[in-house]
Amino acid sequence: MSEEESQESIMWTEKYRPMRLDDIVNQKAAMERLKSMIKSPGNMPHLLFAGPPGTGKTTTALCIARTVLNKYWRDFTLELNASDERGINTVRDRVKTFARYADRRVEIPFRIIILDEADEMTSDAQTALRRIMETYSRGTRFILIGNYSSRIIEPIQSRCAIFRFSRLNEEDVVNYLAEICEKEAVKFDKAALPILSEAAEGDLRHAINILESASTLGEVNSENVRKTAGISGKAKVKDVVNLALEGKLNDARMQLIELTRVYGLSERDFLKYANETIVKLGLPNLGEASEVMAKYDYRLIVGAHPEIQLTALLAELGRIGRDIGFKSK
Ligand SMILES: Nc1ncnc2c1ncn2[C@@H]1O[C@H](COP(=O)(O)OP(=O)(O)OP(=O)(O)O)[C@@H](O)[C@H]1O
Ligand SMILES: [Mg+2]
Repeated sequence: MSEEESQESIMWTEKYRPMRLDDIVNQKAAMERLKSMIKSPGNMPHLLFAGPPGTGKTTTALCIARTVLNKYWRDFTLELNASDERGINTVRDRVKTFARYADRRVEIPFRIIILDEADEMTSDAQTALRRIMETYSRGTRFILIGNYSSRIIEPIQSRCAIFRFSRLNEEDVVNYLAEICEKEAVKFDKAALPILSEAAEGDLRHAINILESASTLGEVNSENVRKTAGISGKAKVKDVVNLALEGKLNDARMQLIELTRVYGLSERDFLKYANETIVKLGLPNLGEASEVMAKYDYRLIVGAHPEIQLTALLAELGRIGRDIGFKSK
């Protein structure tokens, strides 16, 4: 959150984004290691944060920048999104400009480059990234962030200290949400928060977003939470996957189109949530299902027509569901 922004209009996820490592909820093991690492920042290696969405990775990276660089953190921290930027060349150019920009009057141990969604980069791009990291490693530290550390090439992994973030448990989520309700003076029913936590599946950002929407309906009670959680993109993707596995291809496809066209869900996000759903369902033929997901993931990356591809994916899910006589619970 930018401190100058008005407190009124910003989303709760930004408003309640922790500013200090001590305020990060859970992730205890990672926090302890990190805190001791930045005590003498000169020795801090590059960092790699891996873990599910909404568990505090980006927030932690920003907290580190604030702690290590103090009041200079804004000027000497570069945040890039690897999947937004048009390829590795843009990343290289921006890193170059940033690393060159010199202000010798300030005493900082190094500049910080936060590279979000690094695991979405192709391995060629990662190889180039590795060279960039080497070229600039004297004056800069990289904090790479991604959902899966296994998608980061080995030579980069071995140059980073790796930190794993885990989904937040119900108790932590419920306590955090209750705190927000109190600060916002929003009325809430204690029984509603565990329901909300379950819907969010350990993703605190998702939980806070549901909470904020539910609060606009008046009170945060079970009914309002159900209403709001039900219309979240993630829950809808789950419905689509279930329909597809049941072989109801047309219904699944109609809902998919509504999701992407009306709700504006991106095809990549659809795939990401669909994959989460499939893993959670614990299908006996998960291996086969994962291969299918990976195939379409690749096709979308290389730019095949998304709607055609996702429809084909739904059809394949229908076959996978039929093989095991799938029935949704
Ligand atoms: N461990 C946490 N402690 C406190 N707040 C958190 C935590 N995790 C997430 N949040 C809340 O969720 C928001 C999003 O967190 P953050 O951006 O750090 O997630 P992320 O792990 O980077 O997710 P993604 O993989 O989707 O980028 C934060 O602004 C904060 O409000
Ligand atoms: Mg993030």
